Amino acid sequence: MHTASDSGGRHLRWPTRGISFGGDYNPEQWPEEIWQRDVELMREACVDFATVGVFSWARLQPTPDTWDFGWLDRVLDLLHDGGVRVDLATATASPPPWLTAAHPEVRPVDERGYRYEIGSRQTWSPSSPIYRDHSLVLVEKMATRYGGHPALALWHVSNELGCHNSRCYSPDSARAFRRWLQRRYGDLTELNRAWGTTFWSQHYSDWNEVVPPAASTTFGNPTHLLDWRRFCSDALLDQYLAEREVLRRITPDIPVTTNFMVGMGSPQSLAGDMNYTQWAPEQDLVSTDHYLVGPATGDGAAHHRLSFSADLTRGIAGSRPWLLMEHSTSAVNWQPVNRAKAPGEMLRNSLAHVARGADGIAFFQFRASDAGAEKFHSALVPHAGTDSARWREVVQLGAVLRRLEPVAGSRVEAPVGVLFDWESQWACEQDGHPSRLMQPMAIAERAHHAFSGVTCDVIPADADLSRYAVVVVPAVYLCSDEDAARIEAATRAGAQVLVTAFSGIADRDDHIRLGGYPGAFRDLLGVRTEEFFPLGADETVALDDGTAARIWTEYLTVSEDVDVLARHTEGHLQGVPALTRRPVGDGAAWYLATVPDTQGWARIAETICAAAGLDLHAGQNSDVEIVRRRGENGSWLFVLNHTPEKVTVEVSGTDLVTERVVDGPLTLAPGSCAVIREDSADTGARTRKADA
Ligand code: GLA
Ligand code: GLA
Repeated sequence: MHTASDSGGRHLRWPTRGISFGGDYNPEQWPEEIWQRDVELMREACVDFATVGVFSWARLQPTPDTWDFGWLDRVLDLLHDGGVRVDLATATASPPPWLTAAHPEVRPVDERGYRYEIGSRQTWSPSSPIYRDHSLVLVEKMATRYGGHPALALWHVSNELGCHNSRCYSPDSARAFRRWLQRRYGDLTELNRAWGTTFWSQHYSDWNEVVPPAASTTFGNPTHLLDWRRFCSDALLDQYLAEREVLRRITPDIPVTTNFMVGMGSPQSLAGDMNYTQWAPEQDLVSTDHYLVGPATGDGAAHHRLSFSADLTRGIAGSRPWLLMEHSTSAVNWQPVNRAKAPGEMLRNSLAHVARGADGIAFFQFRASDAGAEKFHSALVPHAGTDSARWREVVQLGAVLRRLEPVAGSRVEAPVGVLFDWESQWACEQDGHPSRLMQPMAIAERAHHAFSGVTCDVIPADADLSRYAVVVVPAVYLCSDEDAARIEAATRAGAQVLVTAFSGIADRDDHIRLGGYPGAFRDLLGVRTEEFFPLGADETVALDDGTAARIWTEYLTVSEDVDVLARHTEGHLQGVPALTRRPVGDGAAWYLATVPDTQGWARIAETICAAAGLDLHAGQNSDVEIVRRRGENGSWLFVLNHTPEKVTVEVSGTDLVTERVVDGPLTLAPGSCAVIREDSADTGARTRKADA
């Protein structure tokens, strides 16, 4: 059976047959006459999945004592008659104006003490008991009323929890933070130790002295700041768990999810404020939203970031199928300049997510709004209506996804595990570090890109490493003894383990591991660094293998059993090793003491893949994406041509995009893609430029 989850022994059904297709549906923005037409259009496009009610609280409960469910009853009935399965929101994402008018303290407070006004969305503090009580009353009403509705396939708790309200410094939050710290540390002695409060006269002698790290004179206490980030993530997770508890009590057989924003970051943080590694195990199915950011091609291209986010989503989902809850058919409305997607780009983006394990492709939103803050955001039905190229592409996408039904439930093959640790990223976003340019998520993305020719899982630092031929530890700055021991064990067992600079520097309290860097991996790698020499943003240092070292260098000495593969050729580090390898058990531990340029990364990936016996798909590091999914029913090779040129791939099977049989060279037009149902799963793909 295609199940939503096999974690925790719960086997809940996936919301639809095969690959789900649809999006947010907000019929309350439109007169009822349009609803029937909407459902007809959904059928035309093979839409079988709709998220309903996300921002409906004020419509469902217009005053504290009145409820209006009639319209939503009719919407669910219509969708059910049209064969559309419903992902029903708990509708708690945005409180109605009457709630904040009666209880202004529900609104979140920023780090300078300003309490946000209403008029936008998500104006609630994650730690407000009043918000919590009112939201749970609504959830109970929703679950009781719709729990038995035949359209109901999935619960959608809130929406993008923490999208705008993740850091609240209100008095409610201060109280909740202290309770959280009391649970973590038990007593103040332990908190004072963990936070190193002897520094700068910060010793606490009463719990009421402990406050959220709001704006202050200069740099804050690093462990205080890190605990605050942990707390903010937990406070939002707690809202999810409270809603889920109500839903599970009333509808134990309906799966529950909340849509993550994996890889989307926030204005203050590259990785965002929610540690999804901890949230994912609480989901019956993991769902996430993804919007393109970055250039169309070249380094850091938007589709590279998409593939990193998708691989990270699969990593936190424990390799189980996940659902893309939102992306855009075309332009968004929230970047400074919002361009429409090129012809074919929407299909390519969608298939990239499926290639990387998504069993559902949904969008924000079904019908483009004519009013409101997102009226310029694209949709399945654009302002231009159905006589449009966009709608025709939507219909085509629906048909392609229908043909991919047998792919549902299959798994992505990934022999490389790239670690990503939210807390390390949070710690490196603080002031007071050797270099602000050293950002673990950015390093993880570069490593992921370098190894994209063999496909990577992006996985938590405590994941099972035993199935990977190659493990990359990219600037995992905070490292527990247990995680370090598992990384060492994976090396002994035969993995090629690449540790990059600024990994294993501190423990989980953010205390430096003494005796020379990198404390957690010094013995494994056979290296010892006394001091760091970070580089300026535009500075590079040449290595003797042709690599340009960027961002970071360090003064490194190596033990006798270490091979030096590259050295600095200039500056005060001339002759000092920059890339090393030490044989360990059946594997090897590699140390990369810098951040290489693109060619340098490619060279390292090639060398390590050769050592691991992995064959890089030809075309790696170009803009041609090749990923295989394999299941009980067969295997499928996804080939996506992001380049403006034709490319030719050697494949054997049936292309489910064009429904053509191919045996041998398949030429893909610029920007087009193929999903090959393979005749033989052992067929490797070989890519070359068509004219080469
Ligand atoms: C987020 C939200 C949606 C919508 C889109 C616009 O993902 O969940 O409600 O605002 O952004 O891109
Ligand atoms: C499995 C099959 C799919 C589809 C789903 C339905 O995953 O491979 O073709 O039938 O079950 O849940």
